Amino acid sequence: MGEYKIAVIPGDGIGPDVTNEAIKVLEMLQKLDATFKVSFQHFEWGSEYYLQHGEMMPKDGLDQLKEFDAILFGAVGDARVPDEVSIWQLIMPIRKQFQQYVNMRPIKQLAGIESPLKNDGPIDFMVFRENAEGEYSNIGGRLYNDHSQELAIQNTVITKQGVERIAKYAFEYALNNNKSKVTSATKSNAIIHSMKLWDEVVEKVASDYKGIELESNFIDALAAYFVMRPETFEVVIASNLFGDILTDLGAALVGGLGVSPSGNINPERNYPSMFEAIHGSAPDIAGKGIANPIAQIWSAALMLEHLGRKDLANAIVTSIENVLQEGRIRTPDLGGNSTTEQVGDAIAEDVKSLLVTK
Ligand code: NAI
Ligand code: MG
Repeated sequence: MGEYKIAVIPGDGIGPDVTNEAIKVLEMLQKLDATFKVSFQHFEWGSEYYLQHGEMMPKDGLDQLKEFDAILFGAVGDARVPDEVSIWQLIMPIRKQFQQYVNMRPIKQLAGIESPLKNDGPIDFMVFRENAEGEYSNIGGRLYNDHSQELAIQNTVITKQGVERIAKYAFEYALNNNKSKVTSATKSNAIIHSMKLWDEVVEKVASDYKGIELESNFIDALAAYFVMRPETFEVVIASNLFGDILTDLGAALVGGLGVSPSGNINPERNYPSMFEAIHGSAPDIAGKGIANPIAQIWSAALMLEHLGRKDLANAIVTSIENVLQEGRIRTPDLGGNSTTEQVGDAIAEDVKSLLVTK
């Protein structure tokens, strides 16, 4: 079996801390499983790099990344660099140019995590967020700067092909994972052009999957349903902005941003996919060594699953749950007083005990 080549972009704020812990767990797996070989190459791109070089990554950054099997990404965001620079010169080019049009975000209540809700059953669903177009487009501009008539236009881009591919991905996932329903987030009552096209294409795709029900909800009501009946969702599809907001809400239902992972997937595998926690650089806790690394470690598990090692991915998630259930080692966001490193160590040790006793 070949070696997986992973590009690591730790980024800003808590990014490097949580990424170190994910690598710690992957290295433990490599040590224990002779069939699993992985190598890491670090790219110190991000806001610090920008302050020195005037760009978030080198001009040939994407070319450098192209050669890897996957990308493990920390987070970006630094008070010294405008967010539109840090986001649009690093994450967005990777997601868009590498056609990572599926952003998969499991909203799953892990064993040992209490939801702030009194839900009637386990919360366990998958959100597929359209990740390449939609509301996050840089098409638009401003006119009459500093004038009282100043105006800004920001265009949403919804294409038939773009909706079709995310919808198909979601329905295929539902089919292959024994799910009976896909919920579509829309707002076609008010956003009558782009969201109407979204609805039409989603309905068309759904008609090819007879056994799977399509539920379509307006985004405002859907936000309420996330709170009122989260246990009823199985698969959710949403546009870029709607999916972004819904998944922070979803994360809050299952332990918060510190435990919520994501994968930016290029399904055709023409380019590497990228795995990162949902959260940002968390400047309020950066440098304190108390960021929860679970979201990033779980993202590394999603990466292993994507690379074909579901067995190892499952081992990681089991170990995360073991550590959470034991409850002794937790970062402050989960009510504990452990450090980022202690949580990473505990998960790596648990993985070791799982694999050694196998
Ligand atoms: P954020 O996700 O960084 O933080 C929101 C809240 O969650 C903060 O109170 C933070 O302390 C907490 N939090 C986040 N991750 C945590 C973890 N692992 N453990 C414990 N607590 C955690 O979002 P915010 O504050 O809106 O944005 C901060 C910066 O991050 C901004 O510059 C923003 O643009 C950037 N950002 C970057 C993203 C990325 O790299 N993909 C995604 C979201 C935001
Ligand atoms: Mg977000």
